[in-house]
Amino acid sequence: MKQLLLLSVLFTLFVAGSCEPEPPMPCLGCPAGGEGRLITGPSAATPFELEVPDFMPRPILDESNPMTEEGIALGRRLFYDKIMGRDSAFACADCHRQEKAFTDGLALAVGIDGLESPRSAMSIVNLAFNAEGFNWDGSSEQLWEQAIHPVENMLEMDEDWERVLGRLRDHTDYPERFRAAFGIENTNEITQELAVKAIAQFERTIISADSHFDRYFYLNTEFATEEEQFGADSLFFVENVPVGALHPGCGHCHNRPSFGDNKFKNNGLDDVASLDDFPDKGRGGVTGNRFDNGKFRAPTLRNIALTAPYMHDGRFATLEEVLDHYATGGHGVENEDPNITGFTLDEREKSALLAFLRGLTDETMLTDERYASPF
Ligand code: HEC
Ligand code: HEC
Repeated sequence: MKQLLLLSVLFTLFVAGSCEPEPPMPCLGCPAGGEGRLITGPSAATPFELEVPDFMPRPILDESNPMTEEGIALGRRLFYDKIMGRDSAFACADCHRQEKAFTDGLALAVGIDGLESPRSAMSIVNLAFNAEGFNWDGSSEQLWEQAIHPVENMLEMDEDWERVLGRLRDHTDYPERFRAAFGIENTNEITQELAVKAIAQFERTIISADSHFDRYFYLNTEFATEEEQFGADSLFFVENVPVGALHPGCGHCHNRPSFGDNKFKNNGLDDVASLDDFPDKGRGGVTGNRFDNGKFRAPTLRNIALTAPYMHDGRFATLEEVLDHYATGGHGVENEDPNITGFTLDEREKSALLAFLRGLTDETMLTDERYASPF
């Protein structure tokens, strides 16, 4: 009886099997058809621990992307290599330049075809401390996921990932580097995920914590000028003191040591009739919540003297214009942050606040060989 049952099961399986064609073996991330080739060379990556000064926050660990020396070295190359863009003609670094604290000096970013993005390129420093999501609106939760988009965005690098991967797999040098970083054995295993993870590992190493401010405030190796001290103590970090007298209080959202809390706020830029009328919905475009419309991430002000023009759409050319904006106290739109209060500054105060802001420039980071092009 048992045997009969088994036989009939086998028979059914056989019949079923003979009707349907064999499905192809799935290979996640593999190119269609490509056989790939074996990669030789070392495959044991060296774990890397990100070191940051004690006065900075602790880096947020990304367990989905452990850092290694080889991963960082690979990511640095990919970041600077035009092979990542269409026709091998555009790199991440074309919009994120080290000497400008990894911004581009433009109001709106300009991509491979000379077309403008709707937003300004962001600085790529101290990303290892940000847990609120990336881009002005936090649209990318993971740093490595962020790097997928510029490659395929037609306003940026306008390339098909499959073609990028094809070039990397056929390259004389990259397969060995991918093997060294991720232990893969075949060029077919070079995937989008590994490429962007390597880039993110490199980006996480870019730490800015050696400005003049750090040296006088935390390290005691330099002195603040009287003007800078006044700018910090009486203006930047001060809110309603004495009671009723309004002060800039920039530190409320741009507090030390990060100088940007990365939270999403409406800092009063747009005079709109209703929450539905913001030209760029910002955070609201991500959450779908009307009350988030017009909110953007409060970014770091470290190296701010180098990253003009300012704001998500580059609307202010200078820091003076930025101060004038905050002094007006916004437009009274209903989701404006209550800490956008308006204030008056005389010439001496303005100059002190600007002197303080300029002290946030970190020459060490700007010239650090480890962040520079490897080519
Ligand atoms: C055409 C110029 C351009 C290119 C090329 C470009 N970016 Fe950007 N980058 C931008 C702009 C604009 C933003 C802001 C995007 C937004 O908010 O929607 C940005 C934002 C970022 C951020 C977010 C930083 C933060 O604090 O949240 C990271 C990280 C980044 N880019 C990395 C890269 C990488 C990696 C590449 C290459 C794969 C790249 N970018 C290529 C213009 C560019
Ligand atoms: C209520 C929180 C808040 C306060 C207070 C505040 N900011 Fe901001 N700041 C933001 C937000 C949010 C952004 C991003 C806005 C955008 O781009 O739409 C921003 C952006 C900036 C930028 C542009 C950064 C860049 O990379 O383009 C500068 C410069 C700046 N703030 C300086 C200041 C100064 C100086 C003060 C004090 C006078 C100040 N902020 C007070 C929230 C605040």
